[in-house]
Amino acid sequence: PQRIFSGIQPTGNLHLGNYLGALKKFVDLQEEGWDAVYAVVDLHAITMPVEKGALISQTRQIAAAFLACGVDPKKSILYAQSSVKAHVELAWIFNCVARMGWVERMTQFKDKAGKDAERASVGLFTYPVLQAADILAYKATHVPVGEDQKQHLELSRDIADRFNREYDAPGFFPLPEPLIKGPGARVMSLKDGSKKMSKSDPSELSRIALVDDADTIAKKIKKAKTDLLGDMPSEVEGLEGRPEVENLVGIYAALSGETVEAVLKQYGGQGFGVFKPALAEVTVNHLAPITQRFREILDDVSFIDSVLKDGAERADAMSAPVIREVRELVGFWGA
Ligand code: TYM
Repeated sequence: PQRIFSGIQPTGNLHLGNYLGALKKFVDLQEEGWDAVYAVVDLHAITMPVEKGALISQTRQIAAAFLACGVDPKKSILYAQSSVKAHVELAWIFNCVARMGWVERMTQFKDKAGKDAERASVGLFTYPVLQAADILAYKATHVPVGEDQKQHLELSRDIADRFNREYDAPGFFPLPEPLIKGPGARVMSLKDGSKKMSKSDPSELSRIALVDDADTIAKKIKKAKTDLLGDMPSEVEGLEGRPEVENLVGIYAALSGETVEAVLKQYGGQGFGVFKPALAEVTVNHLAPITQRFREILDDVSFIDSVLKDGAERADAMSAPVIREVRELVGFWGA
């Protein structure tokens, strides 16, 4: 059986990269009929400092964003990671399966820990091992994520494979496949086409937040960096060496559901004075209903909590038998 797992951290405001790389795909896959499990990964969030008292409301906010984007709790499971025990238990076992060398290669740790890795939490180092546990506690086969998560998913596959061999259980864990596709898989900063759009960029102008209003979106797109070459190219080859333009065209394509080729065919030869307002319109039309639903859902805390509670029960029922089998395979007393 095929099953999807993915997660989003409850840190900061979601942006267009999170939407196009993850949330929009979650909804598309759900509509294709996939069996899916989605977590607000609050255990991952505490690997970095969290403002005191903010975790619960951030968790509810991300849950509200899932719902506003169209994740349907009747079709998919939506819950908070910390409310299901399987994650932590499997993560410990995987900490003993993964090798230091594998985890030391992870570039996200190097980026997030910065120059002073000695002061980073141990949890930040072993973060991708917990991510493998998230996926494999449900024996998920497919993981929709943005391009930046590719390396973590390779580690998940290595851990699954090594566990299966070490405990003589061929095929026990599937080797999860990343689903990273299309122009939305890597949305770049609006200010620098070589950096990904990110929650942690100090410049608000670098990203479009899911909660930005129409004027703010239009302003940010108007101020987005382009280049001095002038007009839009009319073919894909013309995007080479023009990362900022490629990014804007990719966003247009991902939001409108058209191919990059079709967008270039329509706007090739035009100036940014034509393309940028068109892009702003597509973006606003797409995001406005989501933003409105998000605000409505956020007002109804008891609804959010009831979704998360129901999701936790179903996620627990799905993962508990996997953990039981793992305990037996490892050979723990009482298993
Ligand atoms: P997080 O919370 O940083 O991001 C959530 C999702 O958004 C995607 N994303 C992007 N996609 C395209 N362009 C961008 N600029 C961009 N920025 C972010 C991310 O790839 C991600 O899909 N480690 C994960 C959370 C996680 C997880 C998991 C994911 C924990 N356990 C298990 C999958 C499976 C993370 O930090 O995502």
